[in-house]
Amino acid sequence: MTDRYAVVGNPIGHSKSPAIHTAFAAQTGEDILYTALLLPLDGFEHQARLFFEHGGGCGLNITVPFKEDAYRLADDYTDRAKRAGAVNTLKKRPDGSLLGDNTDGAGLVLDLKRHSVPLANRRILLLGAGGAARGVLQPLLEEMPAELVIANRTQSKAEQLAADFSDLGAIRASTFADLSGPFDLIINGTSASLGGDLPPLADTLVAANTVTYDMMYGAQPTVFNAWTSALGAAQTIDGLGMLVGQAAESFYVWRGKRPDVANVITMLKQDRR
Ligand code: ATR
Repeated sequence: MTDRYAVVGNPIGHSKSPAIHTAFAAQTGEDILYTALLLPLDGFEHQARLFFEHGGGCGLNITVPFKEDAYRLADDYTDRAKRAGAVNTLKKRPDGSLLGDNTDGAGLVLDLKRHSVPLANRRILLLGAGGAARGVLQPLLEEMPAELVIANRTQSKAEQLAADFSDLGAIRASTFADLSGPFDLIINGTSASLGGDLPPLADTLVAANTVTYDMMYGAQPTVFNAWTSALGAAQTIDGLGMLVGQAAESFYVWRGKRPDVANVITMLKQDRR
């Protein structure tokens, strides 16, 4: 039977993951079937077990709102998943046990490198302290920035994150008001723009050499990148490449092959025109 993979979420209708993984499989000659499955909100564990035990399932990608459920289901973890406290990739191992991984941060770092954005010795600002922010901290800190500042509307959550990752590098929390810029790189990991909002940030955070990265994608440009662009940011990048990057990392975890992301990003950009 063809090895089966799927992305599960709720909602899931607009997921690009089937197109991405199908393109990776064609590129690398891997014989897999990858689909999108809408799961009921209380149905993750049951459906995931069915998929792995009776549906020929070899791996799952997990999206909102099931990443913590997937964490609970896994038998074992990669270090980055343990740090993230969330799993976006499950892999069935030969003994039937499930390895939980989190490839979101690796996808972000892969995309930043693809855009030639330097990270070592740079000042990085991460906006947000929810699941999206937590998921990318370990891979970002492994790039050895001079400083990584986390700012969040709810200050206590930023402080918690800074404390949880302080053994990995120079990380600290700040309120939005106390931030003093400019930063070399500003990453938006808040969901503020879903409601059309921006975090309350001073214009002085953005200078002519600042790169901004919005983990969101969709609107062209995103609300956040439109703001930084108007302030004269050197480069603004949205999260489409991160999406493809995390998929490429999951594909590697499952199949041991690293697909080329550039062609697939181009394909998705053409689709959204
Ligand atoms: P996700 O999984 O996308 O990270 P989340 O865990 O709900 O979702 O986190 C959402 C993040 O966006 C949080 O950092 C949240 O700030 P709070 O921790 O203060 O709630 C941030 N956020 C959402 N709406 C916002 C807004 N209008 N302004 C600023 N920050 C916002």
